[in-house]
Amino acid sequence: MIKRLIFLGPPGAGKGTQAKVLADQWQIPHISTGDILRQATKDKTPLGQKVESFMSGGELVPDDLILDLIRERLQEEDARKGWILDGFPRNVHQAEFLEELLAELHQHADYAISLEAPDDVLVDRLLHRGRNDDAEATVRRRLQVYQEQTAPVKAFYQQHNRLKVVNGDRPPEVVSGAIAQAIA
Ligand code: AP5
Repeated sequence: MIKRLIFLGPPGAGKGTQAKVLADQWQIPHISTGDILRQATKDKTPLGQKVESFMSGGELVPDDLILDLIRERLQEEDARKGWILDGFPRNVHQAEFLEELLAELHQHADYAISLEAPDDVLVDRLLHRGRNDDAEATVRRRLQVYQEQTAPVKAFYQQHNRLKVVNGDRPPEVVSGAIAQAIA
């Protein structure tokens, strides 16, 4: 069966961790817009140079820099047998774009999984990880941006009856089990 999942949830909730587990298990691509953008900044590509200041400030990168990238990535050969999106869509405009793109490709997302945990847990996890955008002020800004722009995406998938909320404040293997149960 073709599997197509979207991971939503605040920074530090474990989207990347859980998406990787499932992608390995199902042998489908784990498409993380954050990873793609971080690689672009590392390689100093024109895209990377444009997005660096947004990322280091904890702001979303402008939609026009992300949408074409997703359009191209979902049309690559390996994405035919399914995909897991991690960090996209990040606002309602991106969610609407994705719906239209998937209709064009004769695909649909099976579920949007919102992984959730309290803010103090998220901040603690990220400060211990230490990525470039994990300084405390930036983490707080990322959480605020999540509440303002990304949390409404949950309502979008709820309206489409595709939302599954999973408590991410448990050991990783327990969270994996809860996700498997939610989408069974
Ligand atoms: P992105 O890379 O998507 O970052 P994020 O959403 O802030 O998420 P994180 O990677 O911090 O957390 P996660 O939920 O994946 O948790 P993880 O598994 O890593 O985006 C970064 C930036 O890119 C954005 O700010 C924006 O600028 C830009 N961007 C990306 N996509 C965009 C888009 N679509 N539009 C516009 N801009 C975009 O885990 C975190 C830590 O917790 C790890 O150390 C992990 O080991 C640990 N951990 C995980 N699970 C558990 C657990 N169950 N128990 C204990 N520890 C755990």
